[in-house]
Amino acid sequence: IAPNLVYATAETMEDPNVANANFNITWVFPVDPSFRYFVRVHFCDIISQALNTLVFNLYINDDIAVGSLDLSTLTADLNVPYYKDFISNASADSDSLTVSIGPDMAADLTNATMSGLEIMKISNEAKSLNGLSSVGSLLPKSPSKKNKLAIIIGSAVGAAAAVMLIGICYCFLVARKSKDTSQGNSWLPLPLYGNSLTMTKMSTTSQKSATASCISLASSNLGRFFMFQEILDATNKFDESLLLGVGGFGRVYKGTLEDGTKVAVKRGNPRSEQGLAEFRTEIEMLSKLRHRHLVSLIGYCDERSEMILVYEYMANGPLRSHLYGTDLPPLSWKQRLEICIGAARGLHYLHTGAAQSIIHRDVKTTNILLDENFVAKVADFGLSKTGPSLDQTHVSTAVKGSFGYLDPEYFRRQQLTEKSDVYSFGVVLMEVLCTRPALNPVLPREQVNIAEWAMTWQKKGMLDQIMDSNLVGKVNPASLKKYGETAEKCLAEHGVDRPSMGDVLWNLEYALQLEETSSALLEPEDNSTNHIPGIPLTPIEPFDNSVSMIDGGNSGTDDDAEDAATSAVFSQLVNPRGR
Ligand SMILES: *[C@@H]1O[C@H](CO)[C@@H](O)[C@H](O)[C@H]1NC(C)=O
Repeated sequence: IAPNLVYATAETMEDPNVANANFNITWVFPVDPSFRYFVRVHFCDIISQALNTLVFNLYINDDIAVGSLDLSTLTADLNVPYYKDFISNASADSDSLTVSIGPDMAADLTNATMSGLEIMKISNEAKSLNGLSSVGSLLPKSPSKKNKLAIIIGSAVGAAAAVMLIGICYCFLVARKSKDTSQGNSWLPLPLYGNSLTMTKMSTTSQKSATASCISLASSNLGRFFMFQEILDATNKFDESLLLGVGGFGRVYKGTLEDGTKVAVKRGNPRSEQGLAEFRTEIEMLSKLRHRHLVSLIGYCDERSEMILVYEYMANGPLRSHLYGTDLPPLSWKQRLEICIGAARGLHYLHTGAAQSIIHRDVKTTNILLDENFVAKVADFGLSKTGPSLDQTHVSTAVKGSFGYLDPEYFRRQQLTEKSDVYSFGVVLMEVLCTRPALNPVLPREQVNIAEWAMTWQKKGMLDQIMDSNLVGKVNPASLKKYGETAEKCLAEHGVDRPSMGDVLWNLEYALQLEETSSALLEPEDNSTNHIPGIPLTPIEPFDNSVSMIDGGNSGTDDDAEDAATSAVFSQLVNPRGR
């Protein structure tokens, strides 16, 4: 609360070397009796060896201010700073303010301590700290019209600023003192009920929301405001053992709220200015969006210039950690398809769901998170931008995003469209299939970039040659073919040639249907015997009946015809046994 130096200058009574240990330590300050004074008394029990062994009285102007003050019951521990605020009543008879501490004889303990004192003079009705002539009387008697206007504007601005300041102070005190109880006796309790206007403005249901209303961000509905103390409690003071990850923006911790809700707490680095912009973007974006496949923001904290975001907790972490680089069990093909579909849904919603489309700009496998049921949710909206409005075709912007996922067209022309996200998503699709990083500089030159490498194989129709060895023989070839084609379209050189996220979503769902249909039909048999690893893919005609699907079908399907007919086929594929 106060600088360490203040606590180091604490006065205590201990071992005074006098016969009678029952005495007071008193400080006397010269004051102007016609003014009131704000007195803040700081304590910190740095002398006791055990709890509840220090109980004493505090007097101000010979009146008892706090009797039997037991710091350890108030702070629940030793060495914890604590303070109390008072306002001294104006007393015409004395031109000194005295503050004393003395032992509480009832408790039979003979020690007392005080760490520091702050005393502030409170201005009088004339808003003066010295005398009764108001500021107004010092101004020229009959000001010209111009001056009058200036004064009116000036005082209006001044008054507004004062109201705001008082409001901020009030909130600050409320936040700090929310757990304190008020004082009785001859002392006015704090917080200062300074301005009734501010009070009515803030008379919201709880102190928390009152505090929130002080914060610059809180002008619109931006989720719950957390006090820094709540965040500290939730994360066990940012316990390193709860660290979930470290990113460009800051560190992410696992936390548990008071009601038991698990959350992910992202703490921004307060010194990065880019961080502040991204912090705001993310709050503003996420509070507008609610979707099953977008990570939802629970609230935020910007107290003490912190930049903290509180999200729903995603038990299974980033998609990437289930692909490579960890010991986690490999995902099945069906799981991978479902995850990609979930992420595609999230992005589709971003692009089309809100009034103005939103471009994520940083689609990658670390920004796709999985909850306890492996439901994929898109995260990290720090770089998001609202997309072009109707009369524009693109948004011009400095290139941001992650290498390996960057749309080459966006990189060249710095023009952002939704199709840039589609490209990045194509990279994700390849990563999911091949379980290798988007960029791997260790590999031979032609393999470094997954987009280039996978595309050369996809064009030969041999994507199965470079896919995850865990999947070999366990993937329906038609499903893989559809998947490969979808990824290929996403990775098209020019944005106009790429499908929309809605098309991508549809195609992935179709790939999933193909996979589910085949595994449903093959259920009684051993799956692996029907798909010998290394055999080139044979396309499947969706109109064929279920038997020919097992056989592998006839080759040479016309892709366009297939696409055109898919909506009709789709419903039939849902229940293949019914035909
Ligand atoms: C300490 O000061 C208070 C207030 O002036 C007084 O009531 C009390 O008797 C004093 N205690 C001792 C031991 O002098």
